[in-house]
Amino acid sequence: MIRLIYVSQARRDLTESDLQAILATSRRTNQALGITGILTYHPHGFMQCLEGEREAVEKIYARILCDSRHTEVKTLTYDTIDKRLFPLWAMAYVGLDDVTSREILRRHRLGGAAVPHYVSPEEVLEIVQEFSENVTRLVELW
Ligand SMILES: Cc1cc2nc3c(=O)[nH]c(=O)nc-3n(C[C@H](O)[C@H](O)[C@H](O)COP(=O)(O)O)c2cc1C
Repeated sequence: MIRLIYVSQARRDLTESDLQAILATSRRTNQALGITGILTYHPHGFMQCLEGEREAVEKIYARILCDSRHTEVKTLTYDTIDKRLFPLWAMAYVGLDDVTSREILRRHRLGGAAVPHYVSPEEVLEIVQEFSENVTRLVELW
């Protein structure tokens, strides 16, 4: 299996219904393809972790890369794994105004509420691991 983490710039005029549409498609498709992970959103950017079989992750990531709802997609990690961080989540969602999420970012000396483009691969992996440990407190149920 593969775990891929990227950050991107959300389109500025993105609405809540755009986000809901992204999540609905993601959960349906990911479930069918055995992909799990987490998507975080803040007006300043997305951060997403995708985990699953290599072929499935690459297929979905190819689509995500050409999606006009975001730009400047930067791949941060692409690792072989034998254990998932989000085994129960076809796509967990966290809005980055979330208090727990802000705490996690602050511990990493990231002041804002979005994961910045300059974050290192090691650091983003630690952040995603902390998200996975707190997933039930973080996730919004839509
Ligand atoms: C930030 C972001 C994250 C996305 N995550 C996923 C995802 O995890 N799974 C998925 O199937 N589609 C995801 N999408 C949507 C895909 O880009 C694409 O719209 C969807 O897979 C449908 O593709 P199709 O129109 O070629 O069928 C995401 C889009 C964005 C903007």
